[in-house]
Amino acid sequence: MRQTPPVRAQGLESRLSNTRGVPARWRSDLDCVLISQAQIARRVRSLAREIEGDYRTRDLVIVSLLNGTVMFLADLIRQVSIPLRLDFIGVSSYGAGTTSGELVFTKELRLDVKGRDVLIVDDILDTGRTLKRVIQRLRPLKPRRLRTCVLLDKTSRRIEKVNADYVGFAIPDVFVVGYGLDYAERYRNLPFVGVLSDRLYTSLTTPQ
Ligand code: PRP
Repeated sequence: MRQTPPVRAQGLESRLSNTRGVPARWRSDLDCVLISQAQIARRVRSLAREIEGDYRTRDLVIVSLLNGTVMFLADLIRQVSIPLRLDFIGVSSYGAGTTSGELVFTKELRLDVKGRDVLIVDDILDTGRTLKRVIQRLRPLKPRRLRTCVLLDKTSRRIEKVNADYVGFAIPDVFVVGYGLDYAERYRNLPFVGVLSDRLYTSLTTPQ
């Protein structure tokens, strides 16, 4: 597999207390824009090129994890110009506030992935609990190969021993919203990744 290293959070930390770039409508909710629309678009294009190269001769099935992955997935697969199949798994952590609580599967896979090359796509890899559980669920279905692609990777928060094969951006441990990611089901529609102001979730014990 040809794989370029994830884009490091270059300069991202320096933006954390800089509200410049946050659209006026969101300034009271967000501390900063962590990753702009243009940065996302560039990185998504380059991830798509890597995936195309790696799966050109393969029977690719993209398995996307609902709900947060919706924007990333839509942008990514439009840039991937090789044949693929697409399916979804619904999985959500229901816990106190933003802590990773119990995982509940809300939609099962419908496609037969036996003998096929499965690429799981998710928006963020945090503790790793979700990805680990999904991998455990897919392995018995006997895909030829099982790989993972995430837009964001918070490596410092990892609890489970799981890594993504394709990573858009390695990010620091801040509460990110937008581009599919939510806080209490809000902010998913922001076209960029922003950092939620901590006064909005101060009662919670863990950042995300
Ligand atoms: C979020 C996110 C990942 C998961 C990552 O999903 O979309 O799937 O958490 O966290 P983890 O690595 O700690 O398991 P969430 O359960 O919030 O559902 P959503 O996609 O509907 O927002």
